[in-house]
Amino acid sequence: MRLKNKIAVVTGGSRGIGQAISELFAKEGATVIIIDLLPQGQKVAEKINSKGGKAEYHTISVTDKLAIEKLFAAVNEKHGSLDILINNAGIAKDKTLTKMSEEEFDSVVDVNLKGVFLCTQAAAPYMKANKYGRIVSAASNVGLRGNFGQTNYAATKAGVIAMSKTWTLELGKYGITANAVAPGFTMTDMVAKIPKEHFATIEASIPLKTVAQPIDIAYGYLYLASDESRFVSGICLTIDGGTSR
Ligand SMILES: NC(=O)c1ccc[n+]([C@@H]2O[C@H](COP(=O)([O-])OP(=O)(O)OC[C@H]3O[C@@H](n4cnc5c(N)ncnc54)[C@H](O)[C@@H]3O)[C@@H](O)[C@H]2O)c1
Repeated sequence: MRLKNKIAVVTGGSRGIGQAISELFAKEGATVIIIDLLPQGQKVAEKINSKGGKAEYHTISVTDKLAIEKLFAAVNEKHGSLDILINNAGIAKDKTLTKMSEEEFDSVVDVNLKGVFLCTQAAAPYMKANKYGRIVSAASNVGLRGNFGQTNYAATKAGVIAMSKTWTLELGKYGITANAVAPGFTMTDMVAKIPKEHFATIEASIPLKTVAQPIDIAYGYLYLASDESRFVSGICLTIDGGTSR
């Protein structure tokens, strides 16, 4: 029970890595507030509750400043704190530089970068008031290395790492840590469009010779959300089978 009695918001918790984080956090004793656009998050919350955990689901976009502010105020009112914020929601719209439209650039920035900013800005006052907080945000190893066809996505993930380092400086004195997690290729719906024949090449390029499963990434989030990491802030925890080194 590494998160006993903690109140944790998980954005993008309806599927993939966010679902694995939500289920793992609930197993570790947290009350999990799932935010997503996909109503299947309701099923995730019901599954958690049916197993004796505590979860609730809300259909809200991380880009909707007012709705996020309203929800976080309600969470703090109902549960007495907002201890953990997992900024996991993210999208990809891949194109090479010369083919990428302004809309494709802006929409990825809106969710992956501005959404993280808006959610963290809305959560920080409650964490400051309690002199406790864990902010963990989704970067990617492409935010460290760049990636063919991902100008927009890679830029947002590098931005998430820089924002986490900045919040470490601004929020540290309130007992709040801010870290990023940088997964490598992980088997979720986000990567489902990639043709199967490319998988062998991807796996061959990873030193551990396999892609990640969502739970491999969720364990990293658990460490950075727990009290065990109280002296860890401003880092980017890479979980990519040894690809970035
Ligand atoms: N899968 C990978 O290989 C990989 C690698 C590195 C980083 N990541 C990052 O990890 C995070 C989770 O990725 P995943 O693979 O589980 O993706 P996914 O597409 O399976 O899940 C993302 C979830 O975020 C939700 N979401 C999207 N836009 C939203 C919005 N505006 N408001 C609220 N929710 C929204 C989606 O509905 C979805 O449920 C993302 O930030 C992604 O960029 C993934």
